[in-house]
Amino acid sequence: MSKLNILLLGSGGRESALAWKIAQSPRTARLFIAPGNGGTEAYGTNVSLSPLDFTAIKQFVADNAIDMIVVGNEDPLVAGIYDFFAGDSVLVVGPSKDGAALEGSKDFAKRFMMRHSIPTARYESFTSANIADGCRFLESLRPPYVLKADGLAAGKGVLIIDNLDEAKKALAEMLGGMFGASSATVVIEEFLSGIECSVFVLTDGEGGYRILPVAKDYKRIGEGDTGLNTGGMGAVSPVPFADKTFMDKVEQRIILPTVRGLKEEGIVYRGFIFLGLINVGGDPMVIEYNVRMGDPETEVVMPRIASDIVDLLEGAAKGSLGDIPADHDPRTAVTVMAVSGGYPGSYAKGLEITGDLKPAQSILFHAGTRREPDGRLLTSGGRVIAATSYGDNIADALSKSYQAVDGIHFDGKYFRRDIGRDLMK
Ligand code: AMP
Ligand code: GLY
Repeated sequence: MSKLNILLLGSGGRESALAWKIAQSPRTARLFIAPGNGGTEAYGTNVSLSPLDFTAIKQFVADNAIDMIVVGNEDPLVAGIYDFFAGDSVLVVGPSKDGAALEGSKDFAKRFMMRHSIPTARYESFTSANIADGCRFLESLRPPYVLKADGLAAGKGVLIIDNLDEAKKALAEMLGGMFGASSATVVIEEFLSGIECSVFVLTDGEGGYRILPVAKDYKRIGEGDTGLNTGGMGAVSPVPFADKTFMDKVEQRIILPTVRGLKEEGIVYRGFIFLGLINVGGDPMVIEYNVRMGDPETEVVMPRIASDIVDLLEGAAKGSLGDIPADHDPRTAVTVMAVSGGYPGSYAKGLEITGDLKPAQSILFHAGTRREPDGRLLTSGGRVIAATSYGDNIADALSKSYQAVDGIHFDGKYFRRDIGRDLMK
């Protein structure tokens, strides 16, 4: 059995969960997390490198005999980290820059879905050159109106607007630079009504793929799915409505055409595909592609992968998933995110975190935390710590996670008490 030195890029709760899982593998020699956070040091060595500084990463890879780079967030992928290391002996888990455009450009993703008959909302794309056509397209749709900045906008680039005149105004503002260059092109699409879920696929780019546990996240700050969008306030896996019938449709109508389509078009893609799906009357439709794992979905998906993650990551990166298993743990996993008061607006940082940081019944995945030289743990972001628990069902797992979140303290701590409630009816 060969052992690998692994470099994981990122610093959030997702990377904590990936690091936790990678560290458990007997195939991991050394694990480095760049830059990591106050919790990832429990699984490996934090190194202060920016995930976007490819030259510095290359030097670190050479100095530390790194065998494989695992990329947590989308930015390095969209910036072309896969291509930067092409021809180098280090393996990179992820799509090429062309593949990362599935997340980096909504217009590209929509065209890709059209070419491969993948079910998604009807749409058209507009720039300032054809804004009048955009207004006419809005008039042809029923409210609410969905307007999306084409490029990356830190999860904020989607506007859903009830009123036609306001939608036209928003279109003009978006094209005028509301999200900078990201909204120089705007995708307008039909509103789909249904319940969402996140499906994760690991593909080797050669037609091989594994479907990972399905999760549902809770994006809004307020209970009952109200208030502003956040990075995600909690997640649940498995998702009761994503049963065999639904997942067979997902595989046949979405996963197979996506994996085959990438290969047919010569787009190199050896990494995670995140399908943001909506269940419209029993039929899955694609809301968005992401080219990475979800956060906080990873905090429930990794705990539900019963197989060796390093075997899977290496298989994907080498283009040879073959028959490497991706077994699912039958238990339910939930995660509840403790966030800073004020998030997703402005919030304080540097607040001391105290309490039970090693609860017996839960795993605390650190997100926005940092460790001081004197050993104190401080908040350093909006999403601070995700408490993940296993259970026989959602309610059982949730009671443990709430106990864990109640046991940690920092000024202004906030979390949602209704994670998973919609799935328990
Ligand atoms: P995105 O940034 O693409 O994940 O979009 C943010 C959220 O907007 C999604 O999670 C959905 O809740 C919602 N959304 C996006 N597109 C649509 C659509 N066509 N119909 C209904 N809701 C949508
Ligand atoms: N939880 C949604 C995302 O990671 O984009």
